[in-house]
Amino acid sequence: MTNDGTAKDQQLANFRVKADEGKLTTDQGIRVDDTDNSLRVGERGPSLLQDFHLREKITHFDHERIPERVVHARGAGAYGYFEPYDDSLSQVTKARFLTTPGLRTPVFVRFSTVAGSRGSADTVRDVRGFATKFYTEEGNFDLVGNNMPVFFIQDGIKFPDFVHAVKPEPHNEIPQAASAHDSLWDFVQLQPETMHMMMWLMSDRAIPRSYRMMQGFGVHTFRFVDAGGRSTFVKFHWRPKLGIHSLVWDETQKVAGQDPDYNRRDLWEAIAHGDFPEWELGVQLVPEEDEHKFDFDLLDSTKIIPEEVVPLKPVGRMVLDRNPNNFFAETEQVAFHLANVVPGIDVTNDPLLQARLFSYLDTQLIRLGGPNFHQIPVNRPVAPIANHHRDGYHQMFIHQGEAAHHPNTMLGGCPALATDGSAYSFYPQQVDGKVIRKRAESFNDHYSQATLFWNSMSVWEKKHIIAAFRFELGKVTRKNIREGVVRNLAHVDHHLAVAVAEGIGVAPPQKAEETHKNSSPALSQATDPVQSVA
Ligand code: HEM
Repeated sequence: MTNDGTAKDQQLANFRVKADEGKLTTDQGIRVDDTDNSLRVGERGPSLLQDFHLREKITHFDHERIPERVVHARGAGAYGYFEPYDDSLSQVTKARFLTTPGLRTPVFVRFSTVAGSRGSADTVRDVRGFATKFYTEEGNFDLVGNNMPVFFIQDGIKFPDFVHAVKPEPHNEIPQAASAHDSLWDFVQLQPETMHMMMWLMSDRAIPRSYRMMQGFGVHTFRFVDAGGRSTFVKFHWRPKLGIHSLVWDETQKVAGQDPDYNRRDLWEAIAHGDFPEWELGVQLVPEEDEHKFDFDLLDSTKIIPEEVVPLKPVGRMVLDRNPNNFFAETEQVAFHLANVVPGIDVTNDPLLQARLFSYLDTQLIRLGGPNFHQIPVNRPVAPIANHHRDGYHQMFIHQGEAAHHPNTMLGGCPALATDGSAYSFYPQQVDGKVIRKRAESFNDHYSQATLFWNSMSVWEKKHIIAAFRFELGKVTRKNIREGVVRNLAHVDHHLAVAVAEGIGVAPPQKAEETHKNSSPALSQATDPVQSVA
């Protein structure tokens, strides 16, 4: 099968079912001539349990729902393709889909909000998920990113606490608009590592005008591995061809009421009208030997690598050109996972990333009902699957042969081991150290990049950020939480902290001690803060 952008479509075509063909039947293929009246005794008599059509119809309906995603429950998806511009990345990775000019790899992308439930409004202040499944000839590669380049926490062990704080509060399940309530801001005041991400969250990046006008980021530092086994650190970026555009706050409020499906509808209609959204993939590359040359830790997901320090290299483009046929079958059942990597791409020791490697498969085992969800059409690789995994709920394959053990000499035999160099092999990283529960000191600077972000904002953007902090924090009922956040903000920028404090009934903070441990070239290049922008 060729991998020219249609391989996935051809595969999916085998599973499509037309609703308007043939006669109405039960799930057993029995034809039905009346689906409006249940079987009963006499015209007004009791219904009969023997009515298999009634029982089957209601039973199936009763079981239609599956659990929504524990985060990123609300989303919209589309198919398309990715193609690299040239083979220049072959110097750092052997991933063929990134290095073979002209090769179109099919993709499925799901955009999402994070905190709200499946039916919540699109235009809330929130991070947006940007998850891409590449159906490569070498297996599926999932780039499971967000529209912001950093994250709230440094270690995945905090993720349950963070999500409990950001989701509606447990006693009354309020509010759906998750950035305006006590538990989130209590977490923020007590975990200063959130401050960089909170600056992004209070900025206009958190209210995108369109999914088509959003950046995407892999966030973590990943690893490329070339044909010779050499490793290079890499950060992934998506850049929208339409540019980056946001709504303004008042618009989001009105749109949430008038059209809660605003972003979903926009994506659907653009693709339906042939106005295909496009993104450029860019990478930041850091040679293995430069790992410790930065004043932050490359393994810390609350940090960016400033593009002035490591420029972005454009490597290819992605076009989304087909809407799914069925929301549940495709957009709801798609399962992304960071551990889905192909030869040439590997993970790093980022402790947030490491926890994610466990979490996604774990949650999908329950969300999608067992170990065979990779057989669901949207999740199937176009690369062939051959192994001795057997049985389990919802098994769709009819495996042949008398034995399912390796090695074996019996009927059916074994798939051959890929000893020809085409197999995935982990980068043989040297590690050494004591087993401890402790974070490296290189993860301790929580404010410098928050300040860098603030300083890079225009006056208008600063005004919007201050207004957002005032609005969101102004809804926090506990004064100690508002005060705690303002104290943290004082380490980011004194004027910002004062402006926010004035808007939320908190005493302006003292000027914070110099907390920025480091001053990298990138940080000293930052523009001077605009004084008093409120
Ligand atoms: C879902 C991104 C951190 C656990 C998602 C989705 C995205 C995403 C885009 C939605 C996928 C979809 O559309 O189906 C990120 C990013 C992170 C991050 C960029 C940080 C850099 C974490 C961490 C954990 C986690 C630290 C847990 C330790 C989950 C879970 C889901 C999810 C359980 C639901 C998956 C499903 O039900 O299929 N994440 N996430 N995430 N994420 Fe994360």
